[in-house]
Amino acid sequence: MQLFVVLSVLLYATCHIALSATNGTVADGLLDNGNFELAPNAANMRGTVVVGRYAIPGWENEGFVEYIKSGQKQGDMLLVVPEGAYAVRLGNEASIKQKIKVIKGMYYSITFSAARTCAQEERLNVTVAPDSGLLPIQTVYSSTGWDSYAWAFRAGSDVVVLIIHNPGVEEDPACGPLIDAVAIKALYPPRPTNKNIMKNAGYEEGAYIFPDTPWGTLIPPNIEDDHSPLPGWIVESLKAVKYIDSAHYFVPQGRRAVELVAGKESAITQIARTIIGKKYRLSFSVGDANNSCVGSLVVEAFAGKATLKVPYESKGTGGFKRAALIFQAVSNRTRIMFLSTYYTMRSDDYSSLCGPIVDDVKLLSLRKR
Ligand SMILES: *[C@@H]1O[C@H](CO)[C@@H](O)[C@H](O)[C@H]1NC(C)=O
Ligand SMILES: *[C@@H]1O[C@H](CO)[C@@H](O)[C@H](O)[C@H]1NC(C)=O
Ligand SMILES: *[C@@H]1O[C@H](CO)[C@@H](O)[C@H](O)[C@H]1NC(C)=O
Ligand SMILES: *[C@@H]1O[C@H](CO)[C@@H](O)[C@H](O)[C@H]1NC(C)=O
Repeated sequence: MQLFVVLSVLLYATCHIALSATNGTVADGLLDNGNFELAPNAANMRGTVVVGRYAIPGWENEGFVEYIKSGQKQGDMLLVVPEGAYAVRLGNEASIKQKIKVIKGMYYSITFSAARTCAQEERLNVTVAPDSGLLPIQTVYSSTGWDSYAWAFRAGSDVVVLIIHNPGVEEDPACGPLIDAVAIKALYPPRPTNKNIMKNAGYEEGAYIFPDTPWGTLIPPNIEDDHSPLPGWIVESLKAVKYIDSAHYFVPQGRRAVELVAGKESAITQIARTIIGKKYRLSFSVGDANNSCVGSLVVEAFAGKATLKVPYESKGTGGFKRAALIFQAVSNRTRIMFLSTYYTMRSDDYSSLCGPIVDDVKLLSLRKR
């Protein structure tokens, strides 16, 4: 009887998801004209400047928005676009918007690619009311100048409006960030199992990663985001972590992992339920993503007050080892945290930050002997 109930709940859940994908709600992947390849009519353009609110197919725009072709020059800077041949640039206080059909109550993650141009303190405000996040795009992690950023929200209604806004106040309005490739992915909140107290322990559930761009997706710190694009995990402190996939990187287990690209400035955390006095074993993989991140890497793991430093000699060609930390819980909530001790630069371009990867985290209570 109980099994039957569980099965029918599972069946119901499966049908529910299948139906929702065909009843007009948004599918995972690029939004409508999400890579801006469909151009405004020539009549709606003054040089590169877009004239008219509904000029860009699929989008509504406000303020000084430019439509940029890959290869266009700005001073001595050549503007290159990662997805296709076109992107938009948001001047001061400019924004782009799109209505999205979603399922009320579900969590979604938005991933978009952006590149800063000449402004000093570039940030983008991403909003799906009532949630909004101010994402700094100042630190560049990829050698191309483009990075992809994730931001998550919970749908408060069946139709939501995504707004990407440049709150900048530069002297030159043409100094705003470039935006290309805006995608969405539904997120399914993970649950702990009887084999693991950690949720989403292999980082398999998380933000959209573009299949055609090789630089992964940055997960910004939680202070800028109320819902995590990496369900179960919180990015603490100041800088982002990089979410990587096995299509472009070496990943120890499954298809996804995280790369700790910002040294001690960024930590990835989960609060685990524990029983005071009980002993636990936290084990995890530490490695390198096969991205020329060469050197003596160190991951620091924390479980409450217990810590472990895991050194990893990286040749930058992909690989990992397991490490384990045994601790006794002193609270019914134990903070599990990982960070990278050092900053490291890729040896192939000497300009982009890289770091050790963490994957396949397991937390189990040890039996009393
Ligand atoms: C799609 O299906 C879901 C679940 O049945 C429902 O909540 C939602 O309102 C539907 N959306 C549309 C646009 O019909
Ligand atoms: C971001 O934009 C939203 C909606 O326009 C606004 O409510 C919010 O205050 C803005 N956030 C910041 C930090 O400017
Ligand atoms: C690392 O990348 C190279 C080149 O893309 C590939 O040939 C090699 O198999 C990868 N190594 C691992 C361990 O994934
Ligand atoms: C343990 O959790 C309960 C509620 O789940 C809380 O009331 C209690 O204060 C917690 N105890 C400690 C020591 O944290």
